[in-house]
Amino acid sequence: MTTYKIALLKGDGIGPEIVDQAVKVLDKTADKFGFAVEYDPADIGGIAIDNYGEPLPQVTVDKCKAADSVILGAVGGPKWDSQPANNRPEKGLLKIREALGLFANLRPAVIFEPLKKASPIKDEIIGDNLDIMIVRELTGGIYFGERGRLEENGVPAAYDTEKYSVPEIERIVKVAFDMAMKRNKKLTSVDKANVLESSRLWRETVNRISADYPEVQVNHMYVDNCAMQLVRNPGQFDVIVTSNIFGDILSDEASMISGSIGMLASASLSGGKRGLYEPIHGSAPDIAGQDIANPLATILSVAMMLRYSLDQPQAAQAIEDAVAKALTTHRTPDIYEEGKTKVTCSQMGDYVCTLI
Ligand code: IPM
Ligand code: MG
Repeated sequence: MTTYKIALLKGDGIGPEIVDQAVKVLDKTADKFGFAVEYDPADIGGIAIDNYGEPLPQVTVDKCKAADSVILGAVGGPKWDSQPANNRPEKGLLKIREALGLFANLRPAVIFEPLKKASPIKDEIIGDNLDIMIVRELTGGIYFGERGRLEENGVPAAYDTEKYSVPEIERIVKVAFDMAMKRNKKLTSVDKANVLESSRLWRETVNRISADYPEVQVNHMYVDNCAMQLVRNPGQFDVIVTSNIFGDILSDEASMISGSIGMLASASLSGGKRGLYEPIHGSAPDIAGQDIANPLATILSVAMMLRYSLDQPQAAQAIEDAVAKALTTHRTPDIYEEGKTKVTCSQMGDYVCTLI
C-alpha cells in the first residue's frame, strides 16, 4: 500500500481545530481509496516562537522537505503582536514559502450552488458555475523586495520594493497558461502597467509567452479594474495570473463571492510534486478554541493536495463531492442559513467523513 508522509503544521488560532478536521477527512479518504498517510507534526508561527524563539525553526523546514506534502493551518495572533517585524508569526509563512521554493499559489474561487445565498453578491451576478482560478506569484515582488526605514531631512520614512525578474515572471506565467489550457483557455493577467515599471515588464513577458499558447485567449487588466470587475461580472474570468501582493488582495475579494472566506482552499507549488496546502484565511484568534470555525477551506485544501501532489484525483473528487453535499444541509455559523443544521467545526468534519 502506498504511504504518504505529510508534514502537519497546525500553527496558531483556529489552525489546530481546522487541521484536525482535515486530517479526519484525509484518513477516511485513505481508508476508502486504499492508501495510508503518516503525519509528522511541526511548529510554525506563534507556537514556534513560543517553543523555539523563531517562527520557522530549521527542524520544521527539514520535516517539510522530507515529506511528500505539507498541510498548514494558519499563523498569527495578538499574543505575538509585539514581536519585532522579522520575528512575527507571518514571517514563518513567508519563510516556508521561500525555503520550499513555492512560487506558484493556486487559489480557486468556486461557488457551491447551495451557498449562493451566503454570498453578498446577487444571484444574477454570480451566474451559474462560478469557477475562477487565481494564480498568485508567491515568492517575489514587494513581499520579498528590499525594505527599510530611513530619515529624509529629519523626517522618518519607510519603503518596500516591488521587483520582478524575467525568469520569475516567466515561470509563474507558464503555470497560469498551462492551467488555462486545462480549463476554458482564457487567461487574464492583472497588473498596474499604467503606473508601475515592474508591471510593464510583467505584461511584456506575458505577451511573449502567449506565443507558445496560441489557443489561450489572453487579456490584460489593471488591478483596480479587476477588483471592480470581480464583483460586477465575475463570470468573465477563468484563470487570473498576478503578482504576490495583487494576488493576496484579489483572492480575499474573490473568496467573498463564494460566500465566506472560510471556504477558499489553496495550493502552493514549486514546480516539483511537493506542495503546501492551506486555507487562504487567517488564524481568526477571536474565535479560536470555540470549535465554531469553518474547516471546509482546509478540507478542500486536502482535496487539492490529493490532486496536485499525490496523484489521487478520485480521492480528491470524493472530498469535493462530500463538501458540496454537506453544504446542502449542514452549516458552520459563518455560512449558517435558516432551515439548515448549525454545526460546530468538529461536527462538520465528522459529517463530511460520513459522506466520503
Ligand atoms: C495569505 C496571507 C499571508 C499573505 C499573510 C498572513 C502573510 O494573507 O496567505 O494570503 O499575505 O500572503
Ligand atoms: Mg491574504
